[in-house]
Amino acid sequence: MKATNLFSQGALVLAPMAGYTDTAFRLLCRQHGVDFAVTEMVSSMALVMNNQVTQSLLYSFKEEGSCAVQIFGHDPVVMADSVQLDCIKPFSAIDINMGCPVKKIVGNGEGSALLQNPTLAGKVISAVKQATSKPVCVKFRLGVDDDANVVNFAKLCQDNGADLITIHFRTRKQMYSGQANFATLPNIVNAVSIPVVANGDVVGTQQYQSLIDMGAYAVAVGRGALGNPQLFNQIKGVADTPNLLQLITQHAQLMLSHKPERVVCNEFKKHASFYLKGIKGAKPTVVSVNTAKSVDDQLQLITQFLQNTKGDTLC
Ligand SMILES: Cc1cc2nc3c(=O)[nH]c(=O)nc-3n(C[C@H](O)[C@H](O)[C@H](O)COP(=O)(O)O)c2cc1C
Repeated sequence: MKATNLFSQGALVLAPMAGYTDTAFRLLCRQHGVDFAVTEMVSSMALVMNNQVTQSLLYSFKEEGSCAVQIFGHDPVVMADSVQLDCIKPFSAIDINMGCPVKKIVGNGEGSALLQNPTLAGKVISAVKQATSKPVCVKFRLGVDDDANVVNFAKLCQDNGADLITIHFRTRKQMYSGQANFATLPNIVNAVSIPVVANGDVVGTQQYQSLIDMGAYAVAVGRGALGNPQLFNQIKGVADTPNLLQLITQHAQLMLSHKPERVVCNEFKKHASFYLKGIKGAKPTVVSVNTAKSVDDQLQLITQFLQNTKGDTLC
């Protein structure tokens, strides 16, 4: 399958976010306008070692639709072996993480460490490409300290078989701070013939449109969608103002349908704080949700708060 069959030009993609973009959140985003989604990153080594916790991260609802699995690693053989496992079969594309700035990952020569080791990065991409018939995508950053090598890295991805690239237009040094800098986007688009997906700081139609006008094939949205899955419809100009309490409850229920309660209780507090962010007087509720011992208790706290406030709908 060609990468352009995964989603059409101008599409909105949910960017991978570890600890957030599980199947529950991806399905919610799908119901609110996202065109394509990517799993949270999973270790290729853990997959080949048959690690059950890692495999559970790949659980997907059938209704979710087309989705890419994101893997990380530095060993071309392990990366190639991982994409041939049964747990990878349900996914329509492979996304290779070459952007993660987290110390533990970089220290292992993985994620954005591969930006500094283009020879190995090329070997990883071509090994994965040869091991799968699915489209192979690569997600990376502008560079380590600056954007001087981003065009060359994009070409390297293409030359080694990547079918699509997604670029987070920040350097590794920036982590998640400062602003994304899209100055090199037109040069990248001119230098490669594969689709370029632009990513960084998109929270509205104007930013989305300006990236498309600069030549991006599609736009990936990460943090803007947290606590706000309807952002995708809103960017598309589709009216979508869900009832906040119903949305939060649905999210928790979707998580509970595929994860143990104690895991959901821990993960859901992060989502809850995004949902309640910006609502006047929400802070004590967020604090209580963080220490609540069950998802029922978390939902009860949120229900009480929203029923006593006018913030129960998003507009
Ligand atoms: C909590 C969190 C987890 C992330 N996890 C991943 C990940 O697993 N893989 C990846 O390629 N990028 C990951 N990212 C980066 C996002 O995919 C995205 O590139 C970045 O947040 C910039 O886009 P945004 O400004 O729309 O959020 C993560 C970001 C955040 C905030």
